Amino acid sequence: MKSEKQLQVLLADLAVLNVNVHNLHWNVEGPAFKPTHVFLEEMYEDLFTKFDDVAELIKTNGGSPAASLKEYLELSKVEEYADRNWTVAEAFGESKKILEYLINSALEIRKTASDADEFTVANIMEDYVHDWQKTLWMVNAALK
Ligand SMILES: [Fe+2]
Repeated sequence: MKSEKQLQVLLADLAVLNVNVHNLHWNVEGPAFKPTHVFLEEMYEDLFTKFDDVAELIKTNGGSPAASLKEYLELSKVEEYADRNWTVAEAFGESKKILEYLINSALEIRKTASDADEFTVANIMEDYVHDWQKTLWMVNAALK
C-alpha cells in the first residue's frame, strides 16, 4: 500500500497528540476553564478514536501498525509539550496548530492514496479533513 508510510506517521502523531491534548486539558487555567477543559476532552476523544481507526486501517490493508510508544516518538514529527500550565488563549492557539497540522497530513495522505487508487484510505482521510475543519472552525471562533 503506497499510503502506508504516511499512515504510520499519522498513527504516531495521533498517539503523541493524544498526550499533548491531555496536557492542555489538565493544565489549562483561566475564567473560561470549564468549557475549554470540556472542549479539549472532546478533542482527545476524537484523536484517540482516530488513533485506533488508523491502526485498523493499516491492518485492513495488510500492513502492521506501529504499536509501541518508543516507535511513536521516533516516527512522529510532533514534539511533546513540557509539563506546564496554559492560558485559555494558549490552549486554543495550540489546538489550532494541531488541527491545521492534522488537516494538512490528511490531505497529503489523501493525495498519495488517490493517486494509487487506494480509495478506502482516501475516503477516510476526506472524512477526517471534514471533522477537523469543523473543530478548527470552533477553535477559530473561540479565539476571536
Ligand atoms: Fe479528562
